[in-house]
Amino acid sequence: MPAAAAHYHILLLGLLLVSRPCFAANDTLAAGQALAVGDTLVSRNGKFALGFFSSGNITESESSSSSDNNSTTTNWYLGIWFNKIPVFTPVWIANRDEPFTDPDNDLKLKIRLEIARDGNLVVLDDIGGANKTVVWSSEITNASKNSNDTVALLTHTGNLVIQHATDPSQVWWQSFDYPTDVYLPESKLGRNKITGLNRVFVSWKNRIDPARGSYCVGVDARFNQGIILYHCASSVVFWASGTFTQPNVDPGDSGLTSYNGVDNSEEQYYIYTTPNESISLLTSVEVTGQIKGRVWVESRQAWRVFYTQPMEPCNVHAVCGPFTVCSSNDNANLSCDCMEGFSIKSPGDWDLDDHSGGCTRNDPLDCATDKFLPVPGVSLPYSPVPMKAADADDCRQVCASDCSCTAYSYTSSACSVWNGGLLNTAASTTAGGDILYLRISAKDLQALRDNKKGSYVGVVIAASIAGSGTIVLLLLFIIVWRRNRDCGLQSSTTQDAAGIRTFRYSYLRHATKNFSERLGGGGFGSVYKGLLSDSITTIAVKRLDGARQGEKQFRAEVSSIGLIQHINLVKLIGFCCESDKRLLVYERMLNGSLDAHLFNTSNDDGTVLDWSTRCQIATGVARGLSYLHEGCRECIIHCDIKPENILLDASFVPKIADFGMAAIVGRDFSRVLTTFRGTVGYLAPEWISGGAITQKVDVYSFGMVLLEIVSGRRNSPEVYTTSSFHISYFPVQAISMLHAGDVSSLVDPQLHGDFSLEEAIRVCKVAFWCIQENEFDRPTMGEVVRALEGLHELDMPPMPRQFAAITKCLLSVVH
Ligand SMILES: *[C@@H]1O[C@H](CO)[C@@H](O)[C@H](O)[C@H]1NC(C)=O
Ligand SMILES: *[C@@H]1O[C@H](CO)[C@@H](O)[C@H](O)[C@H]1NC(C)=O
Ligand SMILES: *[C@@H]1O[C@H](CO)[C@@H](O)[C@H](O)[C@H]1NC(C)=O
Ligand SMILES: *[C@@H]1O[C@H](CO)[C@@H](O)[C@H](O)[C@H]1NC(C)=O
Ligand SMILES: *[C@@H]1O[C@H](CO)[C@@H](O)[C@H](O)[C@H]1NC(C)=O
Ligand SMILES: *[C@@H]1O[C@H](CO)[C@@H](O)[C@H](O)[C@H]1NC(C)=O
Ligand SMILES: *[C@@H]1O[C@H](CO)[C@@H](O)[C@H](O)[C@H]1NC(C)=O
Ligand SMILES: *[C@@H]1O[C@H](CO)[C@@H](O)[C@H](O)[C@H]1NC(C)=O
Ligand SMILES: *[C@@H]1O[C@H](CO)[C@@H](O)[C@H](O)[C@H]1NC(C)=O
Repeated sequence: MPAAAAHYHILLLGLLLVSRPCFAANDTLAAGQALAVGDTLVSRNGKFALGFFSSGNITESESSSSSDNNSTTTNWYLGIWFNKIPVFTPVWIANRDEPFTDPDNDLKLKIRLEIARDGNLVVLDDIGGANKTVVWSSEITNASKNSNDTVALLTHTGNLVIQHATDPSQVWWQSFDYPTDVYLPESKLGRNKITGLNRVFVSWKNRIDPARGSYCVGVDARFNQGIILYHCASSVVFWASGTFTQPNVDPGDSGLTSYNGVDNSEEQYYIYTTPNESISLLTSVEVTGQIKGRVWVESRQAWRVFYTQPMEPCNVHAVCGPFTVCSSNDNANLSCDCMEGFSIKSPGDWDLDDHSGGCTRNDPLDCATDKFLPVPGVSLPYSPVPMKAADADDCRQVCASDCSCTAYSYTSSACSVWNGGLLNTAASTTAGGDILYLRISAKDLQALRDNKKGSYVGVVIAASIAGSGTIVLLLLFIIVWRRNRDCGLQSSTTQDAAGIRTFRYSYLRHATKNFSERLGGGGFGSVYKGLLSDSITTIAVKRLDGARQGEKQFRAEVSSIGLIQHINLVKLIGFCCESDKRLLVYERMLNGSLDAHLFNTSNDDGTVLDWSTRCQIATGVARGLSYLHEGCRECIIHCDIKPENILLDASFVPKIADFGMAAIVGRDFSRVLTTFRGTVGYLAPEWISGGAITQKVDVYSFGMVLLEIVSGRRNSPEVYTTSSFHISYFPVQAISMLHAGDVSSLVDPQLHGDFSLEEAIRVCKVAFWCIQENEFDRPTMGEVVRALEGLHELDMPPMPRQFAAITKCLLSVVH
């Protein structure tokens, strides 16, 4: 209580000390008068008011009441605003960069505007007693020196003028010469060639802070570009009106303004008028870097934008800051997104529409181990540095070897690199766009992959809960739509951040040269070779035939592989779903499928997969399956693992393909798959016995494939009738040989003994554990990976029960 009382006394003291003249609405401030908080000068037409206002008045007019009452100090400003308009709209601020503040928040009782003895207009802060501090001054050097001759007048155009009390032709200062962000009718934009005064309009720092921001509007030095809009700090001009010196130009064809350019010996400027003084209208440079013309609509009690330049918000230089991708919907709302691996540098500023800080790396770069992340579907950043490079790999090398290089692109055989912050990367508004390869740390890349797993799993779960494939597809389309608001399915190709693209049929027809180069085919359709419009990505396009089966396979494929990515899973680049056309687009694998390399002994070049390549393939496939089964929260069962569905890229890295039979099931594996899936020879016994189907069916099939990789021959039973009647089923022979310790004779004879016996034994053990009849005896794919890598010792597998039966049967046949 005593503290409050003391406070009250100080307030009273303040009131007594400031001798306040009676102040009615008036447009003139004369010597000896003072304007305190709450007082205003009002222009004679009543349109404009001058006085003090606080940051509270700005946030108050914000539609969102996000104003935090926790800010310890209130900022106060001297300014001019529209007097009759209920939405607080300042048009000039004297002290935008240096607000008047007071920690006690009672400053409003102590600041006042008056004419100083030297004829300057000043804001004084009464510290106490007779002490006064000048906190703002008009800083006129040629003032009258006699305050009795000086008045400050607020004109009907919103101009605060310091002039001679009785001779209005003597003007010492005017607010129109020191503009803020608002270009009012009748004010000048441009320079005085003699005094050097240059009237430049500067945007606010953010939605609620009027301090100088990033964007400037002025005239260019040679006065031949018209009004120019530029990034103040870098002077990068990103819009110009074009020159005009004839009167009555209305740039927006709104009928509301009439511009005139003036270029004479003394001045170069633009000025505009409105047809009617009763119209309230302004032109301003926005926080977003656009110039906007607004007119007050009385009937709606709101400002209407009648003019915007540049129309496309992403054309504003550096609008989203470094390491961002800019996008906009219908040229309307700006949206800034951090590139992957980056986070918003200053979320507080970002929320207030100040994106200039952009995004920062989640983890610092380490030149030696950095990776490149493709950022597809963009228009490339500002100021590329062209480089000589033979091909895309060479271009990547150029960037990788320069630690300051942050990105590269290889487009139309041209290599470009960037250093620094990658400004102005925008989501491409035309079909396709370019691919930017962004340098990020290996750690961030990994985090991204893990993260992707997570986010896609959500979709998979939702999809599997929904149960219906149609809904899965719908969800996927929604994702693609939401991420490609400007193109969606309408354009020729689109791509979302995950890399899934939707293609138009006509585009794919063109890319595959009218489906002329057939790579292969299966039950559901044919696969064709194609080339994307970037001229470097070769693709395999699967065209599904047979309306019903095709549709089913299409859905299974898109909803499983479409949502996940792994080095050992074939990458679904996109799909086409147009009327009855169903096409799937994959990255093309140079070395085709595994079966061709294992079994086609008579194949043209006669090359044999060497042992280490076989091991690489075995572990790769195991990793891919392990990821499908365990990497996602929902289990994806491939259901059709066989050499035909294992593709090999240029360096024989295996990729699991053909997810047409895949099933997404819950973690509890309780779901029973009713439809028969898979290929005879690789089918787990539970398919036939009608047991519950789990991911262990893939383990079984993988075991069968492992045996084929080792032996280079099919597991399928063969009947020899040459010398004696004899049935051979390789797995049965193999397990006997394994038990007998004779593994070398199991291994593909084409290797001519060039293999590691230890590894061969390990692989065979794994294989036989995988093909145990009881699914609970089979290892998980994770265990398989560890076993293949030698990290996990395996016992000698028992003879699988079904084999024992087969052996018995064979013996009975023979005898
Ligand atoms: C406005 O102020 C001037 C100067 O103090 C004074 O001469 C004039 O009478 C005032 N007008 C009104 C309407 O109060
Ligand atoms: C600013 O806000 C205060 C408190 O809400 C109000 O009294 C004052 O009239 C406002 N000033 C302007 C210029 O709107
Ligand atoms: C903010 O201030 C308002 C009134 O001034 C009060 O009702 C509200 O509780 C305050 N909020 C916080 C978080 O202090
Ligand atoms: C408000 O300010 C107090 C004291 O400075 C601080 O402890 C508190 O966390 C702030 N609250 C919010 C919501 O910012
Ligand atoms: C006024 O200023 C003088 C000199 O700057 C200083 O000695 C005095 O304490 C001040 N008075 C108050 C009330 O602040
Ligand atoms: C200004 O006018 C006041 C009273 O009107 C007078 O006392 C003062 O001397 C004058 N100042 C000058 C510099 O003429
Ligand atoms: C004072 O200087 C300004 C420009 O600096 C000029 O526009 C104005 O006419 C000058 N006023 C007088 C009274 O000389
Ligand atoms: C323009 O001014 C005239 C009077 O000069 C008035 O009748 C008319 O309504 C005004 N037009 C607008 C759009 O305010
Ligand atoms: C743009 O954003 C504003 C406010 O956030 C919203 O009212 C408006 O509907 C949006 N416009 C479009 C085209 O989305």
